[in-house]
Amino acid sequence: MKKITAPDITALKGQRKISMVTAYDYPSGQIVDAAGVDMILVGDSLGMVVLGYEDTLSVTMDDMLHHAAAVSRAAKRSLIVGDLPFMSYQPSVQMAVENAGRFLSRTGARAVKLEGGFPFLEHVRAIVDSGVPVQGHIGLTPQHVARFGGFKAQGKNAVSAAALVDEALALQAAGCFSIVLEAVPHEVAQEITAKLSIPTIGIGAGPDTDGQVLVYHDILGLFDRFVPMFVKKFAQLRGESVDAVKRYIAEVGDGSFPAEGNFNRMDPEELKQFKELLKDKV
Ligand code: KIV
Repeated sequence: MKKITAPDITALKGQRKISMVTAYDYPSGQIVDAAGVDMILVGDSLGMVVLGYEDTLSVTMDDMLHHAAAVSRAAKRSLIVGDLPFMSYQPSVQMAVENAGRFLSRTGARAVKLEGGFPFLEHVRAIVDSGVPVQGHIGLTPQHVARFGGFKAQGKNAVSAAALVDEALALQAAGCFSIVLEAVPHEVAQEITAKLSIPTIGIGAGPDTDGQVLVYHDILGLFDRFVPMFVKKFAQLRGESVDAVKRYIAEVGDGSFPAEGNFNRMDPEELKQFKELLKDKV
């Protein structure tokens, strides 16, 4: 099966809507790939929805490589995008190039994403020049949660909205193959999408971006500690999972599990001999 590439994603602009979903391990990678998603983001949201941190700041490059490799073993078709975690690219252009390269050489990711615009244009250019496709990410960039003072929507006033347009254009010029717009007003996302020749992938940015991304655990209703208003739960698997485990506990308790068919029985002849052998034992 042909794998989707970063240039394929860029070419989809204006053709049809693009879908991206996060995944963090082999089963979630299998599920989103089988569903036919265009891109799988191994996001640093890993820190919150899988590792139980308050935010994404504690996620390391080793965490990301471990999880991206598992997703990659599962995905047959989707483009895998590895998310560069906090402080894996910010300190220097060289560090950015090395860590972006590790995603491609050590996992099956074929693109990376990094958060931020103007301060990282040189980083983006160098990573792209080294052969690694880069997805930009502007608006609410969770790695800046300390500076923003929380997970706050961005670009709500005219000046900051205009700055986001400039930042998106600069990231495109630096070589990004697509850009994630997170938690920005619909009108700002619409304007950026119209001005760019590369696709915009929205999350909390309204319906007019070229594609959408959501976190796997949010789509399936598996994570309820923090649910942004832009999330739509397409299932309620947390409740169903708790119910399933409760039923298991109840059946273990009343002895109805395991039932016939959930275990093996000995061949009658072997059983007879087994009982014979036991006769001499205390
Ligand atoms: O880490 C992540 O899951 C993300 C998406 C929310 C875009 O960056």
